[in-house]
Amino acid sequence: MGTLPPSLAVELPYESNPSVTELGHTTATERDLYRALKDEARKIAARFQRPISVLDICAASGGAAWHIGSAVRYRRLVLVDMDPLMCEAARKRSWGTEDVEIVLADAVEWRGSEPFDLILANSAYHHIQDDRKTAFLMNLAAQLAPGGNILVGEHFLPDYADGDIESYRRSVQGFYEARVAALQEAGDAPGAIEVIRQTGRYCWERRYEYQVSRHVFVRHLAATGLRARSWKRIWPAESGVLPEDSGSYLISLALH
Ligand SMILES: C[S@@+](CC[C@H](N)C(=O)[O-])C[C@H]1O[C@@H](n2cnc3c(N)ncnc32)[C@H](O)[C@@H]1O
Repeated sequence: MGTLPPSLAVELPYESNPSVTELGHTTATERDLYRALKDEARKIAARFQRPISVLDICAASGGAAWHIGSAVRYRRLVLVDMDPLMCEAARKRSWGTEDVEIVLADAVEWRGSEPFDLILANSAYHHIQDDRKTAFLMNLAAQLAPGGNILVGEHFLPDYADGDIESYRRSVQGFYEARVAALQEAGDAPGAIEVIRQTGRYCWERRYEYQVSRHVFVRHLAATGLRARSWKRIWPAESGVLPEDSGSYLISLALH
């Protein structure tokens, strides 16, 4: 299978583990992504001038939904995740009195009963296997209400040669070495940084996390009837840390 590089040699699996997943979400990039999601969601909600309907896809224990739920007026908030333990953790959060539904389902297949004004897909697309990513995005497009947006929080790898596993792994290694160094510099807790190293390990091993480059995402998007309204680079802020197209982004998508 190839030798795992020392920078990714960590043993902290977090699939079906809400508390370790949440620990990873305390790191600087993830906090910045939540903040950017919240700012963008406020702007989108303001356009509607009424309480909106929100879908959080691949919601895990509901971190993104919870942040957005505290920032916008919603009439319906639906969280979908295929992991029963994540859904259980999401149910334990203290939600407001509004209508909150937590659904155990596959995000590629699940269809709600009505379209949504806002769809959150934070760290969602890279959890979907590559051969299902287009179907995943198309399923979201089919559930977007007119005038609505999909907010995608995503980490894009530096470009690699398509179908070349060694090239892909070099890209993963480079991305995660830069990301871990940035989190150390930001003063994040060592335990939380270990979770991010485990993310890199999952990508390197091609299981549970399937990150791709921005170019691959754009290719998938082209097949869906969605267009990117805006791209906001969350990390790195400085140039020279990673190639220009890679890093952590918040993308706002709309129907053509
Ligand atoms: C990193 S977590 C998402 C974090 C969350 N969106 C947030 O912002 O706090 C990824 C989640 O995707 C879920 N997942 C992966 N594949 C899925 C699928 N096909 N359908 C539904 N959920 C899926 C996993 O169970 C996991 O809980």
